[in-house]
Amino acid sequence: MSTELLKKVGWTAEGLIEKSRKLVIENEEVRLKFIITKTADVPTYVEHGAADIGIIGKDVIAESGKDIYELLDLGFGKCHLMMAVPKDKKRARLEDYAYTRVATKFPRIAEKFFTNRGMQMEYIKLNGSIELGPIVDLSESIVDIVETGTTLRENNLEEIVSIMDCTARLIANRVSYKLKYRRIDNLVTELEKVLRQG
Ligand code: PRP
Repeated sequence: MSTELLKKVGWTAEGLIEKSRKLVIENEEVRLKFIITKTADVPTYVEHGAADIGIIGKDVIAESGKDIYELLDLGFGKCHLMMAVPKDKKRARLEDYAYTRVATKFPRIAEKFFTNRGMQMEYIKLNGSIELGPIVDLSESIVDIVETGTTLRENNLEEIVSIMDCTARLIANRVSYKLKYRRIDNLVTELEKVLRQG
């Protein structure tokens, strides 16, 4: 989706769409270098200026806590972060889960959410398949991303509270944004045009 969108504004490179193990793909003609990273690492590359800009989900930005500029909501990758529990062990109120274990890929966001509600929790960091946590009694609940709801349904889990709506965002390194303002701002304007056209 990101590469398709960038292609529409002329930001592309040969070999970018194909699956390959290459980590840097360059288009010398238009002075562009694409860096292929794990999604969770995008804010790190951008914060350190190893990449001037990046495209990444709001969830990953919030969890990273990195000092970057968020320039544009790209609208795709819609999902939301929520708390879910096993259907058959649902408690009456959110507060009834205080002092229980929550499995999540997003401990920072989760902690902020629960602390704001005066709830102390035990956070168990997982790297994927979060829904497994309550099934094997690793945790009482999960905080995870939901897109279609299929994974929750298939694992007998039920959302009890929504935490944050997420979409893909264009982000920029703070210094790059100043030094390369014209080029980055131009990209934002062009992307806005494409997004308006749908
Ligand atoms: C994400 C998320 C859920 C699932 C939700 O996992 O963590 O498990 O997608 O999507 P759904 O609501 O459409 O079912 P992902 O596929 O990224 O893999 P992961 O579990 O390894 O993180």
